[in-house]
Amino acid sequence: EAFFDESKILKDKKILITAGPTYEKIDPVRFIGNYSSGKMGYALAEACAARGAEVFLVSGPVSLQTKHPSIHRISVESAEEMYQCAMDVFPSADAAILSAAVADYRPEMIAAEKIKRESTGEMMLKLVPNKDIAASLGQIKKADQLLVGFALETSDEVHHAADKLKRKNLDFIVLNSLRDQGAGFRCDTNKISILDQEGTLTEYPLKSKQEVAVDIINKLVSLMK
Ligand code: CTP
Ligand code: CA
Repeated sequence: EAFFDESKILKDKKILITAGPTYEKIDPVRFIGNYSSGKMGYALAEACAARGAEVFLVSGPVSLQTKHPSIHRISVESAEEMYQCAMDVFPSADAAILSAAVADYRPEMIAAEKIKRESTGEMMLKLVPNKDIAASLGQIKKADQLLVGFALETSDEVHHAADKLKRKNLDFIVLNSLRDQGAGFRCDTNKISILDQEGTLTEYPLKSKQEVAVDIINKLVSLMK
């Protein structure tokens, strides 16, 4: 009878994980951010490390800590910094899981001084697009690498997720719906579906983010050669 050590299922694997929000500076004291807590990405990092992987966790600003010694955390602030780190790490990784809530836009200019209240009138902030980290990794992905994305949609979830899967060259995409109670940003629980390149959609019940991380890792392992 063959014995298979399930607990070290990711031994010798190097996994890149992006997590948390990005902050896009407006001036020295202000930024554009989002509600991402980083909990899903950190749960994935711990679960991957516990299964024997070496994890490179590229993290936006969050109030979480990592416990496992095999997690190498690289702290970044902006989408541009996250892009640079992800592009550096990915070529030597076996897989990347992109759970970060990356800002799609940043202010065109960062004011060197704090912007003053000048009048009671309106103020315009011009935004320019950030690079798509997932799509950029999708372009350089080799045949033996796996790329996993997330999609947070408010409507027409599966249609949008299928589009992202294709556009970013992902192996599968994890959908979380904002419509479900107890799922998504800032929660300790999550309710996901996974859509893969075959077009198979698997729905999972509401679980803790630790348990959701295991479901995602099991799907990843099933696609590894
Ligand atoms: N993503 C990324 N870099 C970006 C934007 C998104 O790596 N600049 C990744 C996210 O981490 C996620 C996936 O792409 O894994 C989908 O993110 P999402 O914001 O849902 O997709 P967008 O292409 O930005 O589309 P949308 O207009 O719906 O925001
Ligand atoms: Ca986006």
